[in-house]
Amino acid sequence: MNESLKLAAVIGHPISHSKSPKMHGYWLEQNKINGHYIPLSISPDDFRRLVPELAKMGFVGANVTIPHKLSALEIATKVSDRAQLIGAANTLTFGIDGEIYADNTDGYGFITNIKTTCRDWAASDGPSLVLGAGGAARAVLSALLDDGALQIFITNRTRSKAESLKRDFGDRITVIDWADISKNLDGLNTLINTTSLGMVGKDKMDLDLKNLSSQTLVTDIVYTPLETELLKIASTKGCRTVDGLGMLIYQGIPGFEKWFGKTPIVTPELREILLK
Ligand code: ATR
Repeated sequence: MNESLKLAAVIGHPISHSKSPKMHGYWLEQNKINGHYIPLSISPDDFRRLVPELAKMGFVGANVTIPHKLSALEIATKVSDRAQLIGAANTLTFGIDGEIYADNTDGYGFITNIKTTCRDWAASDGPSLVLGAGGAARAVLSALLDDGALQIFITNRTRSKAESLKRDFGDRITVIDWADISKNLDGLNTLINTTSLGMVGKDKMDLDLKNLSSQTLVTDIVYTPLETELLKIASTKGCRTVDGLGMLIYQGIPGFEKWFGKTPIVTPELREILLK
C-alpha cells in the first residue's frame, strides 16, 4: 500500500444512505490530502472481528453508525469521557500501537451547529426542552450540560426512557409527560427535537406549539426535509431556528482532524453537495 495514502471509513449496516463519504471526500479534496474515505457495510456479527483488522490494514480511523455505536464502545481500548457518558461511540481512531480510541462527537456537532449559526446563544442562558430519549438525546444532553445548562426538561413518548436518562445525567434534568409539552413551552431558551418525528417517511410532528415564545431558539436533528414542520412553525412564531444538517457536518470535524491532521471548513458548497 502507498505509504502516504491515508484511509478512513464509515461503518454501518446498511451504509449506502450515509452522507459521510461525500463530506469527507469534499474535505480531502479541499485540503489536497492523499486519502480516501469509504463506506463499509459490516454486519453486527462481523463488526468485532473486522474492525481491528482494518486497523492492522493501515486505516487511520472510522466513523461508526447504526447499528454499531454500542459495539464500537466495547471494542475500544480507550474511551473518551463524553463517549462514556453518552454510552456510545461514533468515531474510532486507530493508533499505530494497536490502540483503538473511541469518541462520541455527536454532542460536539449539535452544539457547534447552534453556536456557529447563533453566536450569542449559550445553553446556560435558560431552560431547554429536549423531545426524545434515544441515542441522539443522550448526546444532546451531554453537550447542553457541558455548555453550562442549569435546567433541562426532557420528554419522551415512552416516559421510562426519559426517566432512565435523568438517572444517568443527574439533577439538572427534569422529566415531563409527553402529553404536557404544550404546558412547558413558555420561557424556554431552547427547544430541541431529537425524535424521528417529521422525518421523510416517519410520523408527522403534530404537537401543540401555540405557546411557543419568539425568545426560544428551536433546532431539529432531522434534516430530511431541511426545514421540518417544527422549524416552519417556529419560524412563523418569530423564533430563531437551526436546521439539522449542520449537526451532521460538525460531528465529522473531530475525526477528520485526528485522522488527516487538518481542520476542515464548512462551506455553503458543502451543504449543497450533501443536500443533493
Ligand atoms: P436515535 O438513537 O437516533 O435517537 P432512537 O433510539 O430510535 O433513535 O430514538 C427515536 C426517538 O424518537 C425515541 O425517543 C422515540 O420515542 P420512544 O422511545 O417512545 O420510541 C421517538 N419517536 C419515534 N416515533 C415517535 C412517535 N410517533 N411519537 C413520539 N415519539 C416518537
